[in-house]
Amino acid sequence: MSVAQGVVVTMDGPAGTGKSSVAWKLAQRLGLEVLDTGAMYRAAAVVSIDEGVPADDGTALAARIAEEGLAFDWSCRPPRLLLGGRDLTERIRDADVNVVVSVVARQAPLRAALVDAQRAIGRAHPRLVTEGRDQGSVVFPEAVARFYLDAHPEVRARRRVEQMRSQGRPADYEAVLRAIQQRDHLDETRSDGPLVCPEGAQRVDTSMLTLDQVVDELERRVRAAVPVDRLAPPRAVQTA
Ligand code: DC
Repeated sequence: MSVAQGVVVTMDGPAGTGKSSVAWKLAQRLGLEVLDTGAMYRAAAVVSIDEGVPADDGTALAARIAEEGLAFDWSCRPPRLLLGGRDLTERIRDADVNVVVSVVARQAPLRAALVDAQRAIGRAHPRLVTEGRDQGSVVFPEAVARFYLDAHPEVRARRRVEQMRSQGRPADYEAVLRAIQQRDHLDETRSDGPLVCPEGAQRVDTSMLTLDQVVDELERRVRAAVPVDRLAPPRAVQTA
């Protein structure tokens, strides 16, 4: 696949907007791969917790990741995340990682290393929906379509509570809402790669939309921006 046929779509926005599910479904419809950059910051949080590297020491975290080697296994769909020989795909979703990751993600030396790694992935996998907080603003500003998904904090908290309860986990709406607001604040106020709607990016408010409605809308917009032969053909219209 030549880079001339590359199609990079970026998807940024805060937690709870359905970004991951949207990125995955959109990529399947368009025939693109998916890069979950939050998973890379989560891997750094695992290094901090499991290896005792301080969460605010971005230089040490970046060095450990470089030594051990952080990579995706692209033969799996979605790709599994490997650090050295260790498969971190499930570990990065643990509750202790959620607590540490926003501190880790503020560290400039770590961000610089992961941004470089993401650009290298973009060169090796130039047909990509890439999802995170800074993909359209910092990492791939030249992407053919750049989206910023948003939703009211109350809606995001409600979605999260429903998700947790459907997994049989207890969830307190007020506590979840407070955690979302705190995390937004940390993400928006860091000096390096803050969470912003990139200039020229398309903002999509998902508060009143279902997952499929969001995917439909983004698919329509990407198809309008990209030559038809670079994407998987549109699905047949369902008549039944
Ligand atoms: O999307 P997520 O919840 O897996 O992201 C985990 C953390 O990493 C969250 O605090 C935001 C941060 N992050 C980031 O700073 N930059 C990215 N490109 C992706 C995630």
